[in-house]
Amino acid sequence: MRSIILLLSLLAIANPDGRKTTSLDGKWQVIVDPYESGFYDYRYKPSANGYFKDAKPKSKSDLIEYDFDRSGTLKVPGDWNTQSDQLFFYEGTIWYRKSFDYERRPNTRLFVYFGAANYFADVYLNGEKIGQHEGGFTPFNFEITKLVRDTGNSLIVKVDNKRRRDAVPTLMTDWWNYGGLTRHVKLVETPATFVHDYFIQLQKGSRNRVSGWVKLDGDKRSQKITVRIPEAGISKSFTTDDSGSAAIDFTADLKLWSPENPKLYDVAIEAETDQVRDQIGFRSIETKGTDILLNGRPIFLRGVCIHEEAPLRGGRAYSREDALTLLGWAKELGANFVRLAHYPHNEFIVREADRMGIMVWSEIPVYWTILWENPATFENARNQLTEMIERDKNRAAVVIWSVANETPLGDARLSFLKNLISHARSLDSTRLMSAAMERHYTDATTQMIDDPLGEYLDVLGCNEYVGWYDGLPEKADRLEWKSKYEKPLVMSEFGGDALYGHHGDPLTRWTEEYQENLYQHQLNMLKKIPFLRGTAPWILMDFRSPRRPLPGIQDYWNRKGLISNRGEKKKAFYVMQQYYREFNAEGVR
Ligand code: GCU
Repeated sequence: MRSIILLLSLLAIANPDGRKTTSLDGKWQVIVDPYESGFYDYRYKPSANGYFKDAKPKSKSDLIEYDFDRSGTLKVPGDWNTQSDQLFFYEGTIWYRKSFDYERRPNTRLFVYFGAANYFADVYLNGEKIGQHEGGFTPFNFEITKLVRDTGNSLIVKVDNKRRRDAVPTLMTDWWNYGGLTRHVKLVETPATFVHDYFIQLQKGSRNRVSGWVKLDGDKRSQKITVRIPEAGISKSFTTDDSGSAAIDFTADLKLWSPENPKLYDVAIEAETDQVRDQIGFRSIETKGTDILLNGRPIFLRGVCIHEEAPLRGGRAYSREDALTLLGWAKELGANFVRLAHYPHNEFIVREADRMGIMVWSEIPVYWTILWENPATFENARNQLTEMIERDKNRAAVVIWSVANETPLGDARLSFLKNLISHARSLDSTRLMSAAMERHYTDATTQMIDDPLGEYLDVLGCNEYVGWYDGLPEKADRLEWKSKYEKPLVMSEFGGDALYGHHGDPLTRWTEEYQENLYQHQLNMLKKIPFLRGTAPWILMDFRSPRRPLPGIQDYWNRKGLISNRGEKKKAFYVMQQYYREFNAEGVR
């Protein structure tokens, strides 16, 4: 399997203010290429003269069988499936081309940055391969300083969303495989030596010790750098070593970030050759026994799950407006927490959660049954985990990293996930690790959480569908929950389907009354679980799924939303809202 190949240095660029960026969003010329004839020759060998050459006939006798200029267009950012009926079910390759001019300032470097491309992207500039990326939900970038021209640049991306057994996710998902350049694309200009990345958060368990690091990239690696938090009167200087790194460590009296007071500070990182600014909140998140402590105080995660489905218009969500709509509905529900399922969502929703005071569970798409024994599959999952943490490590709102959803018990799976967890802890020791696990019956009325994975987690996540896939709603009344672990539980999924406006008696499937009834019984059961410290019903809004064809009801939508895809609130929404109203300002019941 092809991993990330960097023809030119691939640097994780933080995305703060203060950088000169140029958007490449808008219309891109595209060629739909189901047989990948723009990449392979008839012997299925990679061709040297593929579409990435963006060639034009030089004479009337020249044979060129493609022409971006006379081809269709697709909007970027955006999935291709909802931009054209012909592409609704399309899984395969589409070539994207953007022409641009760019006059680079002297002594600067230039990078092309992609917020995400689903699923596999091969990237070319002016006919040269500059890199490739696997994974549909995390950002990547390539340096193009040496290749960019003042005028007539041709940036070409081969995007392939074909599902593969060895991929992450693998062949089967309960969400739409939206393909394309699904998030923003931009050029980022930096000084020759620039602030490549930084991690500035409170140390684990501390409420006044700021620690982390700053990393420079470029020739002038050893420099004096200063971290400033003007509002808190903080100005601390450090010196980067020969590798460009400096550890950051100082005490500070800061207002702590919380849902009630989502305080963000303007933070500036100044080096001799560069400076960047960001808005960062400071909070501590930890567990103690079965409690989750935010800033040292017990908290209940009043949550809801969200898919990155665009509200009202459908398709892959990508904008700030999409984020504000979805988080606005979550707030209306009474949530102080969202589980972003089952893959890293766009940066807007995480940054708006930071501003709105909504805690975030962020997850990589290690979903159902991937190839646990395949080293390349592990490398891929690990890389997606790295990229997720790299992008959002300075976001106070993100409190939980999740490494998996509903994965089957087994030794290979356990060691796969254990290795991911220890990798995540090596990158970020400040947050909690979790995964959405499953439960089993030890007798007719006892639910047990004893997945061996629980040993390695800080927070136990569990998905259960009592009343939908497992019996009828009233079954929940008879169930008792037990756990092998003295750890907090977040019920990371529960719920059932209802078509908005479809009514009947409480035992008629697909009606709002059935869903309402199911939630009432669910909440009675959940309230009795002594170690429950969070709930995230499945799901805030109906979302598209290729696994849901039932005509007149699903029509390729998973209808478990508390809100329809047109923004209509179902009866169960109010049941959940009432439950969250029972919690006091401190977030406990
Ligand atoms: C699963 C899964 C979700 C899915 C949901 C459902 O538990 O984690 O991705 O959509 O159940 O069946 O609706």
